[in-house]
Amino acid sequence: MSDARPILFFDSGVGGLSVVAPTRALLPHAPIVYAADSAGFPYGTRAESEIAARVPALLGRLVERYRPRLAVIACNTASTIALPAVRAALDVPVVGTVPAIKPAALMSVSRVIGVLGTEATVRQPYVDDLAARFAGDCLVLRHGSAALVELAEAKLARAAPAPAAVAQALAGLFHQPGGDRIDVVVNACTHFPLLGDELAAAAPAGVRFVDGGPGIARRIASLTAGQDWAKGPDVLVFTRLGEHERRVAAGLDFARVESL
Ligand code: DGL
Repeated sequence: MSDARPILFFDSGVGGLSVVAPTRALLPHAPIVYAADSAGFPYGTRAESEIAARVPALLGRLVERYRPRLAVIACNTASTIALPAVRAALDVPVVGTVPAIKPAALMSVSRVIGVLGTEATVRQPYVDDLAARFAGDCLVLRHGSAALVELAEAKLARAAPAPAAVAQALAGLFHQPGGDRIDVVVNACTHFPLLGDELAAAAPAGVRFVDGGPGIARRIASLTAGQDWAKGPDVLVFTRLGEHERRVAAGLDFARVESL
């Protein structure tokens, strides 16, 4: 008998769509529920305590409503702060998103890596730990940008990002001491791959960007290997369904739009 249980993706906004895209490419028959905590957006400027309280509770409600086979926290901020608590609270497997420092260290020739995330993510001890474990011989520079998160949201609501605003956000990384030697940038926020073209155009020539999306997609495929899929209607769910959310939804390929 085929299995209609979806994969549930969760983010504060549209960022997790950068994880959905490689997952859809690998698992085209998987039913998807994409949940955006638009009422709590943005996460990156919030205190750890707020995120730690909010995310497990919301995921609990989402799992109860949609009964997924697997939940994906497609958000670096939520994962680096709340992943253990979410795992403890849910009775389904949970895949998190962590900054792709390990692949970046494997790619870097100059041994200087940039980590571009939200303000909350770049200050997490989890990031110190990844840098020490996987990039011990690299200089790891970090920058948190709320502006890039807003630009990605606006882009998906069809407002083109101003090149000067993207350049200004990148300057916070490349203008740090040693920043001129960065050859790989970790997109440590799932919103940022949605600005891939704009970031590449604004960065110094030769700089490469890496994110966790493709690796997460492979992890989802491995955790669901051998399972059946019954393709149902993909669902987009917002915790607040206002004008911005309706504009975003109109440009996306989801059969149903709901509010939580
Ligand atoms: N997309 C999220 C991340 O990966 C957070 C964006 C935000 O709400 O600030 O960190």
